Amino acid sequence: MKIAVSGKGGVGKTLVAGILARLFAHDEFKVLAIDNDSAMNLSYTLGIDQNIKSQIVPIKEMKSMIEERTIVKGAGPGVYNINPKVSDIPDRYKVSGPDGLQLLVLGGIEEPATGCLCPENALIRTLLYNLFVKRDEVVIVDFEAGIEHLGRGTAKGIDLMLVITEPSQKSLDLCKKIIDLSKKLGVINIFLIANKIIDNSQKEAIIQKIKNWEVPLYHSIPFDPEIAKADLDGKSPIDYNSNSKAIISINSLYHKLKKLKAELFDL
Ligand SMILES: Nc1ncnc2c1ncn2[C@@H]1O[C@H](COP(=O)(O)OP(=O)(O)OP(=O)(O)O)[C@@H](O)[C@H]1O
Ligand SMILES: [Mg+2]
Repeated sequence: MKIAVSGKGGVGKTLVAGILARLFAHDEFKVLAIDNDSAMNLSYTLGIDQNIKSQIVPIKEMKSMIEERTIVKGAGPGVYNINPKVSDIPDRYKVSGPDGLQLLVLGGIEEPATGCLCPENALIRTLLYNLFVKRDEVVIVDFEAGIEHLGRGTAKGIDLMLVITEPSQKSLDLCKKIIDLSKKLGVINIFLIANKIIDNSQKEAIIQKIKNWEVPLYHSIPFDPEIAKADLDGKSPIDYNSNSKAIISINSLYHKLKKLKAELFDL
């Protein structure tokens, strides 16, 4: 199952992606977590060891590897292969984390208004695209905030798009755009998840605001001060306090997704 997590900046994408990856891995699924955000902080939420973390070089920064794979011999400047060889990249560059999970750090796809066709973006898109069609495991992609990166290449093959919102109109507006675009790109299972919910009235307000959407609220995660404490400590929130209310809630989200996975794929 290939899960992607998207939403506005700061809503909790990395928290949800990272903790779900840990829970799937703990349950003995083969998990590949992919950091596709330019801030590249998924490794903290996963609880990757400091020594391993310090050795990570994001794929996007591997200039010579990218050049070698995208160069077209004899062609002039500005001409490069937009379908480079990528199949060996996950196994060569992934690192190991707790519970046997694996992490591949790509870095973000920066997409200027004109649409950047640079070699790094082509390589990353090809990688996401191919990974999605080939691998038999749980892949969880922590996307860059916003919507600009979401194109045919990145959305191709996503089985589940988790769209995260916080209790704000701005965040919901962006979720609507992500949902509409994901649908256009052919993603079938799209789930809205509210995070940082303080009380039931906030949850009810969100339900009210989205009552005409085709995608209902699938799950809601409470605001939890333990998450910020874990962040300050540089620890994964699940290692810091596995009984905190947000972690318990993400655990129940995990069980819903596991059940869904069985219904969708294990028939
Ligand atoms: N349920 C929660 N309760 C309290 N704080 C939370 C919760 N979820 C996330 N946070 C806090 O919100 C901030 C953003 O969380 P996170 O990094 O997961 O979001 P993001 O969507 O990945 O952000 P970015 O767009 O910067 O990548 C962090 O400081 C985190 O501690
Ligand atoms: Mg993030």
